[in-house]
Amino acid sequence: MDNQSIPQIQTVGVIGCGLMGSGIVEVCARAGFQVVVSEVSQEALHAGLGRLRQSLDKGLARGKLGQAEHAEALDRVRGTTDFEDFAACDLVIEAVLENLDAKHQVFRRLDEICPWHCILASNTSSISITKIAAATDRPDKVIGAHFFNPVPVMPLLEIVRGLQTTDSTYQALRAFGERLDKRIVVAQKDNPGFIVNLLFVPYGLDAIRGLEQGVASMEDFDTAMKLGMNHPMGPFELMDFVGLDTMLFIADAMYEETKDPRYAAPPRLRQMVSAGMMGRKSGRGFYDYRKT
Ligand code: CAA
Repeated sequence: MDNQSIPQIQTVGVIGCGLMGSGIVEVCARAGFQVVVSEVSQEALHAGLGRLRQSLDKGLARGKLGQAEHAEALDRVRGTTDFEDFAACDLVIEAVLENLDAKHQVFRRLDEICPWHCILASNTSSISITKIAAATDRPDKVIGAHFFNPVPVMPLLEIVRGLQTTDSTYQALRAFGERLDKRIVVAQKDNPGFIVNLLFVPYGLDAIRGLEQGVASMEDFDTAMKLGMNHPMGPFELMDFVGLDTMLFIADAMYEETKDPRYAAPPRLRQMVSAGMMGRKSGRGFYDYRKT
């Protein structure tokens, strides 16, 4: 343990109010944190805050929270398009595109604006935390906070330690994750794929290879894993849910780092992404969602 004291987190910033960002905002606000969330335009912010409200409404309808908790959570959230609004944050979680240049821009700007004690976290599923931290003068305070979709429902938070992340940063993020009521796992080495994707990516790619080799139908692969192993979704359903572009991006990033053929994307995945078949979000992936 290093000798720095563990910072207390009260105000949380979230960069990006897409699917993951809005889910992160929701769990933070529900846990009692003040939250500032940014988007690139007023339109994107409006859509993101709409998504947040929709999810809170769903939680209310399902009896997961009461009317007062719903209203209090919304009250704690402030939307912005101005990075200067992160100047009072103790922790900022970035959830923008999976692109190292985009992340470097965000982290460089946050490093200028945020107070010196502020922890800078990334929700990346595949980019090295050490590489992201290199854009800042505080690599000791940069860490991975990898949430899972849907964030309000999935109980896991995967914490990723970069090469220079200190114990006090890690302890503060861990305490924060516990306040969100998440179960925490720790990737100690900033390895490609961390913990979850180290297992999930070859699993998904193997399913595609099995399909290409004619081992079984897509439906039978999915049924096998749901009924034989009690997974909520089979591999093809889950890849469609995650997004095939995301799946391909993670696989490519892992292959690029390791050159391990287990992470080499099968041609079919690349073709589907080129054809705009991204999974549920585009209406078509391995399955066709346009008719449902
Ligand atoms: N707020 C609070 N609770 C909510 C909610 C909300 N907005 N929406 C749903 N819930 C609750 C429901 O009330 C329900 O709770 P109970 O079980 O207590 O009744 C539960 O969540 C499940 O919701 P639904 O009934 O609506 O949906 P479902 O049973 O069809 O499950 C699913 C949907 C949770 C997505 C399930 O299919 C599942 O777990 N799939 C796998 C998801 C997964 O693996 N995600 C990780 C993807 S990988 C990733 O994100 C990162 C990466 O790096 C690739």
